[in-house]
Amino acid sequence: MKKKPIDVNEYAGVITKALERGVLLTAKEGDKLNSMVIGWGHIGRIWELPVFTAYVRDNRYTRKMLDANPEFTVNVPLGPMDRRIFTVCGTRSGRDLDKIREAGLTPVEPETISVPGLLECPLTLECKVIYREEQSLSRLPQEIQRRFYSVEPFDHISYYGQILAAYLLEA
Ligand SMILES: Cc1cc2nc3c(=O)[nH]c(=O)nc-3n(C[C@H](O)[C@H](O)[C@H](O)COP(=O)(O)O)c2cc1C
Repeated sequence: MKKKPIDVNEYAGVITKALERGVLLTAKEGDKLNSMVIGWGHIGRIWELPVFTAYVRDNRYTRKMLDANPEFTVNVPLGPMDRRIFTVCGTRSGRDLDKIREAGLTPVEPETISVPGLLECPLTLECKVIYREEQSLSRLPQEIQRRFYSVEPFDHISYYGQILAAYLLEA
């Protein structure tokens, strides 16, 4: 497996655009590996570091995993995401099944953290959480509270992941 290093700034637009359709965030706790679809995220700079910030709802299994092992990979498909991967990782919980196996995902050995990349979503960011912040519903505009938190009344937690490596996986 080849890893072609990339300048994350040059791919910021690609990643942000891909977020509109959904990308994967992968976490690992012990031997357990799990990926979820995310649509919200930021790529940018803070504390003079390149950072990807992800927003994970409190009730996600991924939230529990990130708090146990604060590292993640962001896995971006270069075209539309495979339907099965999207459905399994975006609607099922790692609490109930092995989504990596169910979705047919292939883990690829990481470089700097314990969480692998995924061959099927080749643009990879390896991130180490350097800051975690719980959002407060009461500080959001009523309209946003209504729209995003009526059905699922769980706050989001912001995970600021320092980007330690960025590359394209090439089989
Ligand atoms: C297009 C799309 C975007 C999503 N974006 C997010 C997100 O940014 N944050 C989040 O917490 N959940 C998001 N979800 C929902 C999770 O992917 C879903 O609840 C998943 O089953 C959680 O898996 P887990 O319980 O294994 O962590 C999104 C789902 C879809 C289909």
